[in-house]
Amino acid sequence: MKTDIFKFKGNGKDKVYIKKISQTLRDGGLVVLPTETVYGLGGNGLNKRTCKKIYEAKGRPSDNPLILHIADNSQLDDLVAEVPEVAKKCIKKFWPGPLTIIFKRSDKVPDEATGGLDTVAIREPSNKIAHDILKSVDFPVAAPSANLSGRPSPTKVEHVIEDLDGLVDIIVDGGHSVVGIESTVLDVTVDPPMILRPGKITLEDLQEVDERITIDSATIDSKSHEVPKSPGQKYRHYAPRAEAICFGGRLDKLVNEIKKNIEENKGKKIAVLATEETYDEYENTGVELLINLGSREHLEEVATNLFDALRRCDEEDTDIIFAEGFELRGMGLSIMNRLLKACGGKVVMRI
Ligand code: TXA
Ligand code: MG
Repeated sequence: MKTDIFKFKGNGKDKVYIKKISQTLRDGGLVVLPTETVYGLGGNGLNKRTCKKIYEAKGRPSDNPLILHIADNSQLDDLVAEVPEVAKKCIKKFWPGPLTIIFKRSDKVPDEATGGLDTVAIREPSNKIAHDILKSVDFPVAAPSANLSGRPSPTKVEHVIEDLDGLVDIIVDGGHSVVGIESTVLDVTVDPPMILRPGKITLEDLQEVDERITIDSATIDSKSHEVPKSPGQKYRHYAPRAEAICFGGRLDKLVNEIKKNIEENKGKKIAVLATEETYDEYENTGVELLINLGSREHLEEVATNLFDALRRCDEEDTDIIFAEGFELRGMGLSIMNRLLKACGGKVVMRI
């Protein structure tokens, strides 16, 4: 299949692109769209065949449900059985934005979108291009992250092209995703409501709406229960090809630990995921790829750069990645959730 790439420039041409995109979506085609979190691989979420095509293009197991994206929360009533009070408050505060909410689904939503579950994940993105695309059709757009299954989520159009060129009808180039990690997933079908995937909207943010909101322990410890609450938790996401180890604990100690490990692994192609505060420590240590993820004072910056860094480790064919850890609160917890998945749970903690 030939994939068209549309770069939005904020001029009259964008309207022509939107028309082509909405026609393609109506015809059951696949369109990669930018969102504020990561790029999404979109198709008509109410069309069974299109949902199947999404799974095929990604190489994703069909029991891992999709998120339905909407332009406006007036679309919600049709898709869900009920909107609990806590969800109403979260919607008011955080939509449009990087929060996905899990509801009991209505009959309109096909099994193919939810992996057969009786719940459905819904989100209203804030990205302007995504919004314009979603507004141009009269159905929700199902969109998992636009990466091949098992690879880090795409935050730049280059990542999407690398994974999906030739497998989708259209790729929209919307520049670098601003958030850089996927949306927070909040399940309001359980009491108290529970975060299944942490993101830019943190536990602390959500507890301001309802202090009873909790977070699934599996977000940090993947082996904490046998049956995952979110099917996505059982798959190794965000994975670079190299072995990756995350070092936790006090900053000075973890830096020393990483330096010791660099020494012990001489001869291997090593990548280090460092931060603004520690970058200098690893210069002249002979590592192949030294990446500054950003400042520990601005974890939003670290989140934005994380997936690109993991992909760069692959490009450079590194054998082993040493990643600095972050505190398990606020955005730090969301970043650690992604890092730990990338590391397949391999973590060295020195407190
Ligand atoms: O930021 C995002 O959420 C991006 C952009 C494109 O919107 N999308 C995204 O989709 O990350 P995806 O499919 O890669 O991740 C959706 C996650 C998966 O872990 C899935 O298991 C979980 O949400 N999920 C979806 N529906 C669910 C449901 N009904 N119950 C529990 N978990 C669900
Ligand atoms: Mg994904």
